[in-house]
Amino acid sequence: MRITENFNGNWVFRDGFEPVHVHALQPGETVRLPHSAVELPYNYFDETDYQKPFTYQKRFDWRPEFEGREVSLVFDAAMADSVVYLNGQEIIAHKDGYTPFEARLTPHLTHGENLITVKIDGSENPEIPPFGGQIDYLCYAGIYRDVWLKVASPVSIANVKIETPDALAEKKSVIARVFLANPQGQAFSGTLTAKIHRKGGGDVAASSIKVDGNEVALTFPDLTDIELWDIDNPVLYALSLKLETEHGEDVLTQRFGFRTALFTPEGFQLNGRPLKLRGLNRHQAFPHTGYAMGRRAQEKDADILKYELACNVVRTSHYPQSKWFIERCDEIGLLVFEEIPGWQHIGGQAWQKESIENVRRMIERDWNHPSIIIWGVRINESQDNHAFYTETNRLARELDPTRQTGGVRFITNSELLEDVYTMNDFILGNEELPGNNRGRVVLRDRVETTGISRPIPYMITEYNGHMYPTKRFDQEQRQAEHVTRHLLILNAVAGDQDISGSTGWCMFDYNTHKDFGAGDRICYHGVLDMYRIPKLAAYAYASQGDPRDNVVLQPVTFWARGERNIGGVLPLIVLTNCDYVEVKFGEWPAKRIYPDRENYPHLPHPPVVLDLRSVTPEEFGTWGRVWREGTITGYVDGEPVKTLTLPADPVPATLEVIADDLELRASEKDAVRVVVRALDQCGNLLPYFEEPVILSLAGPGRIIGPSEHTLKGGATGFWIEAGDAKGKLELTVKSRRFDTQSITFTVS
Ligand code: GAL
Repeated sequence: MRITENFNGNWVFRDGFEPVHVHALQPGETVRLPHSAVELPYNYFDETDYQKPFTYQKRFDWRPEFEGREVSLVFDAAMADSVVYLNGQEIIAHKDGYTPFEARLTPHLTHGENLITVKIDGSENPEIPPFGGQIDYLCYAGIYRDVWLKVASPVSIANVKIETPDALAEKKSVIARVFLANPQGQAFSGTLTAKIHRKGGGDVAASSIKVDGNEVALTFPDLTDIELWDIDNPVLYALSLKLETEHGEDVLTQRFGFRTALFTPEGFQLNGRPLKLRGLNRHQAFPHTGYAMGRRAQEKDADILKYELACNVVRTSHYPQSKWFIERCDEIGLLVFEEIPGWQHIGGQAWQKESIENVRRMIERDWNHPSIIIWGVRINESQDNHAFYTETNRLARELDPTRQTGGVRFITNSELLEDVYTMNDFILGNEELPGNNRGRVVLRDRVETTGISRPIPYMITEYNGHMYPTKRFDQEQRQAEHVTRHLLILNAVAGDQDISGSTGWCMFDYNTHKDFGAGDRICYHGVLDMYRIPKLAAYAYASQGDPRDNVVLQPVTFWARGERNIGGVLPLIVLTNCDYVEVKFGEWPAKRIYPDRENYPHLPHPPVVLDLRSVTPEEFGTWGRVWREGTITGYVDGEPVKTLTLPADPVPATLEVIADDLELRASEKDAVRVVVRALDQCGNLLPYFEEPVILSLAGPGRIIGPSEHTLKGGATGFWIEAGDAKGKLELTVKSRRFDTQSITFTVS
């Protein structure tokens, strides 16, 4: 049977690469993967620090199980331009930093000790996508995803494509196209057995077929009692394959789901039902470790999008992301727009060839994920290129005729070679465009943008971002405008049935090159900060979710007399999914206010806006009068479901330290996020609390990044990473004005 083993431990890492060193293990730092070649400060660093070669080496012994079998290493990804050597001999080179590759060890293994050397090169080689121009994100060097040891029979299962052609019919079917690997070119014959089972349930169907070639298709007709995969009920099935030949046995299991996904000129449909796509773009970056974060952190991002931000779609801008992230999207019902690596720049022939290969690798890796609904086969925001994009589209359709293609552009009148015109629409706030008086046009007209008058499928893939960078610790008025811009676009998209949906720019702030961002190497474009702590705009999304899942009641204010120009808090936006809210100012009678359907008629849950339509300035007092406590209560079905008290005299009362989880796994670099927030006497964030906290951790693990943090905007965050030993981790957070807080984690 096949062995698949984690191969992440005990690598020796060092700066630089010397070809002569591939023959013997050199001294260096012992590390576990996923690994970032350089751990960067939070901001203000030099991104060229990691733009150079690095070496990873690992010694391992021959094992009896290797005898007569195919032995390889599967790299889930390494950034970038990897070259793998076994016992001094080069065995594979892989340029792309985002897709997996398999290094075949078999012919060069020795009976005894073996040495793997991996050279990676973080310099931005202009021959490799996305490099060659300026890029608004960082491509952190390192073997930043998992590596697996694979031991299989000489004839084995290389891949399988699972199709569910008539998912909406009462009797459904499955076609499994199975691809075999036979690197030694052995003659063989045998049997392939396949079983479909429901995840966590019983068998659904079984079939078997004789095989003697490298490709075979199995069909399972007339399947009944099958549940569809949907965003609210993401039912997964698995296909288990077993290959038996005279060279041995091999097995492979892949998950899949039954669903249809279609972009039409009248909007997107999931399983034949219209569904307005509402989501955000996600980079795969984290503070300090860059791309090198493992399973838990990847999964958590998907959970945040789905459960905290009430999104139903994410775009993996601008490259294929971790399989842990995409698998989680399958499990929780979060739709995915996945695209090839690139950013504005198209390189020469070799570069384009590599990019076309990226299309192949992305699709062959990910074609069984029910969450993925479209392939992005253009370099994000590049110019038209007829020959190049004809080929990326042709290849995508050949490999996977079951999904449509998109290609993200910002140019108008671009040649439509894809199935869906996917557009980054940055018109809101753009005062330079003729006719856009005060920059208040919300979205461009589809026909004007595309130059195509016939109805075509259309999606907005980005908006806001650099048009209105906003920090979590920015002043209230700027944040209110940030919120408003997100709401305006969500409303316009919701109201236009020609638009399938949108993904805003973007989920969280990210480190970037000096040519972008706020000068400190951060693009403050997120609705969350880099620790995934929400800005107020996050609640523009969160409040669109169902109150039965999560009641949202978030006033867009710091509740102070003199924070805003002129003073006071009007107009007061309350982001909420309640039916109505009651706002009380001091002793004045409560005002009941309903969602603002006048200005946001299409949103599932318009914000409540308290302004001069319902109060007089006197009621809230003016400059020079006493400031009073506010109370905001949200009602659902006539019942009060949440109340916030906003004190007139906020003082520091609690240092809240919350970890996403208290159980960690040993030997996985398992990392859990911790968020620290300074709260007032009523539990509200103190937006201008900026004092230091000192972190310490006892036990088998470490704090990623520094152990001294200054709260910004009243909060900070960090990740705790478990080491290889089991035991307890004791985190302590000390500060001047609060009691010391501690949290105990179990590592098992
Ligand atoms: C887009 C680009 C994104 C990001 C964004 C900022 O042009 O696709 O990667 O840079 O602008 O708003």
